[in-house]
Amino acid sequence: MCCSCCGVTQQKAWVFGLGTFFAVSGLLAIICWPGFIDSGIMKALPLTPTSKTFEKWEELPIPVYVYMYLWNWTNAADVQANGVKPIFAQLGPYVYREERKKMDLEWHDNGTVTFNPRRTWFWEEELSGGKQTDLITAPHLPSLAASNQMRNSNVFLKFMFNEALNANGGHLFVTHTAAEWLFESFYDEFLHYAMTLNNPLVPKIESDHFAWFLNRNGSKDFEGPFTVHTGVGDIKEMGEIKYWKGQNHTGWYDGECGRLNGSTTDLFVPDEPKEKALTIFIPDTCRIINLEFTGQSETIQGITGWKYEITPNTFDNGQINGNAKCWCPLERQPDNCPATGATDLGPCADGVPMYLSADHFMYADESYGSTISGYNPNYDQNNFYIIMERKMGVPLKVNANVMITLYIEPDSVIE
Ligand SMILES: *[C@@H]1O[C@H](CO)[C@@H](O)[C@H](O)[C@H]1NC(C)=O
Ligand SMILES: *[C@@H]1O[C@H](CO)[C@@H](O)[C@H](O)[C@H]1NC(C)=O
Ligand SMILES: *[C@@H]1O[C@H](CO)[C@@H](O)[C@H](O)[C@H]1NC(C)=O
Ligand SMILES: *[C@@H]1O[C@H](CO)[C@@H](O)[C@H](O)[C@H]1NC(C)=O
Ligand SMILES: *[C@@H]1O[C@H](CO)[C@@H](O)[C@H](O)[C@H]1NC(C)=O
Repeated sequence: MCCSCCGVTQQKAWVFGLGTFFAVSGLLAIICWPGFIDSGIMKALPLTPTSKTFEKWEELPIPVYVYMYLWNWTNAADVQANGVKPIFAQLGPYVYREERKKMDLEWHDNGTVTFNPRRTWFWEEELSGGKQTDLITAPHLPSLAASNQMRNSNVFLKFMFNEALNANGGHLFVTHTAAEWLFESFYDEFLHYAMTLNNPLVPKIESDHFAWFLNRNGSKDFEGPFTVHTGVGDIKEMGEIKYWKGQNHTGWYDGECGRLNGSTTDLFVPDEPKEKALTIFIPDTCRIINLEFTGQSETIQGITGWKYEITPNTFDNGQINGNAKCWCPLERQPDNCPATGATDLGPCADGVPMYLSADHFMYADESYGSTISGYNPNYDQNNFYIIMERKMGVPLKVNANVMITLYIEPDSVIE
């Protein structure tokens, strides 16, 4: 009965028909879907107050852990008394969880948004390799900064300065706890003295307390404002920095070296060729940093990303690559430029003799490390790299290692 209308031939036809339909639609799906996904995603990616990207951008949903290491100057007294070679021991990590939120959002018609980043740090005892109460001896930065400013003055002025420095809390080194050095801060007699000076030659000092991250915890007024492109109108601009503090140039280094470009590390341009280097700007480093394509890939939780890292060129000052000459501060050009491997942060640090390099002076000229003991560069530990998925422009793993060092030079007048 049932089969009067459906002969064997008809059944076959049905089966084949359906099969063909599935096969065709399957094929269509395979052919069309990547394009569909691409255009769908590329439409959804740009940053607007209602886009999916927005929430994760405004407030980073995953914890970021900052690993801080401090170097303990273990023979400081001996160096001061006998001029022996300084020895430093790396302590830490002192680990802080960092919460990031973008504040004071201002959307502009031309596809840009301006904001102030706010970072809040929380001590992570369990992850740390040191205690907040660890006592750490380090150079006394205020004395060092002031002495550096006076170095080229005439002997009489230097003599007067030396008297004032030694009578008002000047030191070669001081000892404080790790927590004080980083966030808690400590009262400093010399800073207090310098604050009351009212000398036009002295840079304006705002606090008689010192900490590397003084007043920065939970503050939205420290790093910004940033203006970045949202990707609206041009997805190839998404996340690109347009202005920082209203300028497209830091003003600290000449020409291209001061120009702001690249990502603020929150958003990256999607769908870029994998060979293209990544450029990032972090105000703490005073400069953009280029990370080069290595050709290596890594799969993290099933997603494959490419590796981008610093190279011996990254912190060059023109010795390896002539174009990098502009990293040498103008007042040190042409004959007194820092050796390759470290950027002089003086222009952005009120003249404090501070340097930025790869961790443990990796890739740096041997003159940097030869006068001290204790550092030991190791590619696996000290490399600065990002594993990046380029289709969506998402970092899968970030190991952003940098080292800040202070340059100390003996002086015949300043004790
Ligand atoms: C740092 O070095 C000093 C010697 O200068 C030492 O007394 C102190 O214990 C060291 N700190 C730590 C945490 O090891
Ligand atoms: C976008 O518009 C804002 C506000 O009008 C303006 O300040 C900024 O210069 C413009 N940015 C660019 C990249 O044109
Ligand atoms: C930062 O501030 C928050 C409160 O706003 C506080 O809970 C946290 O302990 C502070 N972090 C540090 C490192 O002082
Ligand atoms: C930077 O800003 C200056 C003026 O504010 C402008 O003349 C210059 O074209 C800008 N440079 C870039 C690369 O946007
Ligand atoms: C940013 O500028 C540097 C130096 O001019 C250049 O090497 C790099 O390719 C630029 N990056 C981007 C994303 O434009």
